[in-house]
Amino acid sequence: MTNTLINNVPKNPVNCNDHLSGNPFLLNCWYVGAWPHEVQGDAILARQLLSKRVIFFRDTAGKVNALEDRCSHRFAPLSIGRHTGDGVRCMYHGLVFNGKGTCVEEPGVKGVSRGTDIKSYPTAEKDGFIWIWPGDPELADEALIPDCKFQNQPGKWDWEPRYRYFNADYRLILDNLLDFSHLTFVHENTLGGSSKIANIKPKTESYDKGVRITRWYLDEEKIAPYLRGFETFEGRIDRWNIYDMETKGNVFNMDSGTAPAGTGAPEGKFVPEAMLFHATQIVTPETETTSHFFWSYAHNFNLGNPEFTTMLTDRIAEGFEEDKEMIEAQQVIINENPDTPFAYIHFDRGLSAGRKALAKALEEEAEYFKTKANQ
Ligand code: FES
Ligand SMILES: [Fe+2]
Repeated sequence: MTNTLINNVPKNPVNCNDHLSGNPFLLNCWYVGAWPHEVQGDAILARQLLSKRVIFFRDTAGKVNALEDRCSHRFAPLSIGRHTGDGVRCMYHGLVFNGKGTCVEEPGVKGVSRGTDIKSYPTAEKDGFIWIWPGDPELADEALIPDCKFQNQPGKWDWEPRYRYFNADYRLILDNLLDFSHLTFVHENTLGGSSKIANIKPKTESYDKGVRITRWYLDEEKIAPYLRGFETFEGRIDRWNIYDMETKGNVFNMDSGTAPAGTGAPEGKFVPEAMLFHATQIVTPETETTSHFFWSYAHNFNLGNPEFTTMLTDRIAEGFEEDKEMIEAQQVIINENPDTPFAYIHFDRGLSAGRKALAKALEEEAEYFKTKANQ
């Protein structure tokens, strides 16, 4: 017997090695570089972002600065330097750099030698994140910082900051976040909990900043496993995930919730016992095959109860560990088969839309840098 094949191969199939052609990352956008608590007091935080080694530190006014992690003199890393007033001292021969990367002190002489300045990156602190602009600094407009306002509404939403490191290409993480069909299999006992989920088709739409995915699970018998014990009501449920993926900065904003079935959630009506959530999930590439994952899971009930926030966030984290295991295992196989394309199945609409939006933005950016180089 032969299998019935569904003719669903897209015109531009997603290739697992598409990151090997051209620049693998967008650079002209704001990325999350750190949580503010990682850069407190005299701390110098070293982090590799977009294949660039960077340090973050605060000046005496509390402003965060980002510099390349490389002294201009003999390339000693400044991350093993010393925070000093408004700058950082290289602890090899003592050059001091301010937050703009200007060399302001050379021990033993008046003034400084020529060519000793280093690169700095525009930074901003907004909605609970430290942002960095790795691309053309002339374009670094703070108005372009993605909206993460749910992390900035105390009294309405409670959340706590989380971080996880992935040994995987950021695009595999984006693929995973744009794909709800894996909930049934990867998260069988945590975030999923219903075999019906794989059969519900999400609505996938493109919008000016990326991709939006909407998925409703109506009149389910049971609450998702991760919410068991946290119920604010009994009985059958309506449940949803509405996901916006912003291509610039790899920012996912997800509205989700669980409400008593038939109380009007699909029409935007939420009864007081509805449990509403807002997930902020941001993937910043470290290198082509490793990534930083910054996330929070804000909730609108049980406010002012940090133990509850931690418990809820821990349960989501359990689900993310399941993703991490799968994604890192994929990366190992991809590394061994870098030229083999993925097969495309009907579950892949969301992730293909995400990859296409990214490919288009990468093309536009390559064009921008080409034009600029010719000027
Ligand atoms: S390497 Fe930094 S001062 Fe010499
Ligand atoms: Fe997942």
